[in-house]
Amino acid sequence: MASNNFGSSKELFERSQKVAPGGVHSPVRAFRSVGGTPIFFQKGQGAHLTSVEGDRYIDFCQSFGPLILGHRNPEVQKAVLEMIDTAWSFGACEPYSLALGEKIKSWIPFVERLRFVSSGTEAVMSLARLSKATTGRKYLLKFNGCYHGHVDSMLVKSGSGLAGLASSDSAGVSQEIAGETLVAELDDEKAVTELFSKYGSQIAAVIIEPVPANYGLLIQRQEFLRFLRDITKQHGSLLIFDEVITGFRVGPQGLAGLWNIQPDLVAYGKVLGGGFNVAAYGGRQDLMDWIAPSGPVYQAGTLSANPVGMRAGLTTLEQVEKNDVYTVLRSRTAMFTKEMQALFDKHSAPFQVAHFESLFWIHGRTDKTIRHLSQIPEGQKENFAKLFHHLLQQRVYLAPSGYEVGFLSFAHTEAVLGETLNAFDKALGVFKA
Ligand SMILES: Cc1ncc(COP(=O)(O)O)c(C=O)c1O
Repeated sequence: MASNNFGSSKELFERSQKVAPGGVHSPVRAFRSVGGTPIFFQKGQGAHLTSVEGDRYIDFCQSFGPLILGHRNPEVQKAVLEMIDTAWSFGACEPYSLALGEKIKSWIPFVERLRFVSSGTEAVMSLARLSKATTGRKYLLKFNGCYHGHVDSMLVKSGSGLAGLASSDSAGVSQEIAGETLVAELDDEKAVTELFSKYGSQIAAVIIEPVPANYGLLIQRQEFLRFLRDITKQHGSLLIFDEVITGFRVGPQGLAGLWNIQPDLVAYGKVLGGGFNVAAYGGRQDLMDWIAPSGPVYQAGTLSANPVGMRAGLTTLEQVEKNDVYTVLRSRTAMFTKEMQALFDKHSAPFQVAHFESLFWIHGRTDKTIRHLSQIPEGQKENFAKLFHHLLQQRVYLAPSGYEVGFLSFAHTEAVLGETLNAFDKALGVFKA
């Protein structure tokens, strides 16, 4: 079935391992969590990916979230091609970032000022620096299981016990840097209160993914987020929402708008660039005015506000608005996950599916809503790996880890979702006792 000159995935992966560490340019792509050889894809269109072998898969990874309209949406493609015909990069003032910036401000009034950067990591890194500068404080408080990019100070997990000073998750992050990050369990007011009573006057900011979606989908109680808003205010700390996944995905104002909880500062990425390298950070003007050149906190970027990404992002948001994408995705995801659950039950498969707007996560059976790490049933990695490979045989591609979430796009029509459910029905046969 070969339809190209690339060779097979296996052969390409062998070659790649001589080029990149582990053969990949971002770790999850290596399939370490599910085993086997990563598939090499050569083409994306709508809800589908085509492998170098010429096989077509229904894709629920969607580049880990940016492609809310699916692969190569025709309107976004048109805008990108027009921009390619006009200019690629200026390193100077231009109207394209102004148009996207004004669009964001019109959607999200609490973003009084914003700065475009090229990745979510950069957005969070800048917010960490900004919050420490504006408060003159040392600590950031994050939550166990929340991912905020590979910023040194965010590559930490919980120490043993309730919560406490963190140790590093990655080699090369010094104890001094890791030690400036406090870690609490999600969904745990008591842990946060204790950290504030011990370190309160030194906590610059609390940072959270308001819908944590990097260790499975750990949907928080609204009251927990409101509690974070209150306790940060009481102690003169800032509240940062990392909406790199949820921003422009769960609604026009992200989770902040959906639940009407206003952070001081916010990070966006993924959907904002429609598949190109665009992210942003922003929030209160009095804080953002600390950023250079208005203020003393330095942050810059050669390709920041790259015009191709700006046009892709703006057109993505316009299309989302025009097609009422959030409403459509909400109802499609609810239907899809309900029917998926019925199939898990029919086959007595050891799975449950959680969803939040257009995000979903397949996990082991439990009678609790999973809100923090220790509630994740045992066997997640192994059970998911088995399901993943049986779905691949049915030409359905999920993100290759049981701790990653699935993403629906506007291109996942009811017909595509119906096809996916048929594939699940076939794949789940192997789980019958
Ligand atoms: C919530 C969150 N924050 C930050 C990041 C980092 O973004 P990037 O991969 O663009 O650096 C990610 C990436 O997955 C993310 O999910």
